Amino acid sequence: FHGVVAIDGPSGSGKSTVARRLAVALRAGYLDTGAMYRAATWAVLSAGIELSDPDAVADCVRSAVLTITTDPTAVSVRVGDVAVDAAIRGPEVTGAVSAVAGVPAVRAHLIAEQRRLIDAARDTGGIVVEGRDIGAVVAPDAELKVFLTADPVERARRRSAETAADLNATAADLRRRDTADSRVTKPLEAAEDATVVDTTYESIDQVVERLLGLLAQ
Ligand code: CDP
Repeated sequence: FHGVVAIDGPSGSGKSTVARRLAVALRAGYLDTGAMYRAATWAVLSAGIELSDPDAVADCVRSAVLTITTDPTAVSVRVGDVAVDAAIRGPEVTGAVSAVAGVPAVRAHLIAEQRRLIDAARDTGGIVVEGRDIGAVVAPDAELKVFLTADPVERARRRSAETAADLNATAADLRRRDTADSRVTKPLEAAEDATVVDTTYESIDQVVERLLGLLAQ
């Protein structure tokens, strides 16, 4: 496989697990663009920058050295020398990430970096890229574009099982981020040519099989 698979969708749609498993099945690379927005947010918070100052936020993100691996079996994210894999999943980062991701200069910077990583992977086994805007903006020429959805109640149930956080609080956080993400960046829009897959009643394995089938067509 030498191409690009774009997997977009909201939180709890199953996109991370599906994308990673698909990458392993294809022996391709894997890029979690949400982890990049989260790492950028970690850099902003740890520098003590006000989220209400978009110029300062953008300057901080541009000067931070973000490193992310593209091995689906060994995902790791660093800011400078600091491994931030655990910290970027915490409530502070989750609460601030939509604001940071809504700054246009932040998006421009991270999208350029994402395209660089995707180009590097094209000739070495391809790459599965997950996010919100991959099929529409980052990699519009992807060989396969998928938009995963699921019922909001099921999305909240999955996410709270993953994080061990309270179900109602998780559901409220998902609603807040769905709204913030679609208002500022419209990233929740599926690319026009994406295949929409509802994962509410499908297991991860079924979804992965279905995507492998789409690629084989
Ligand atoms: O928790 P969840 O799986 O939804 O999030 P994620 O994929 O880790 O992405 C975290 C946040 O990063 C999203 O809520 C968006 O604000 C932002 N994001 C984005 O704007 N564009 C992307 N391509 C990926 C993530």
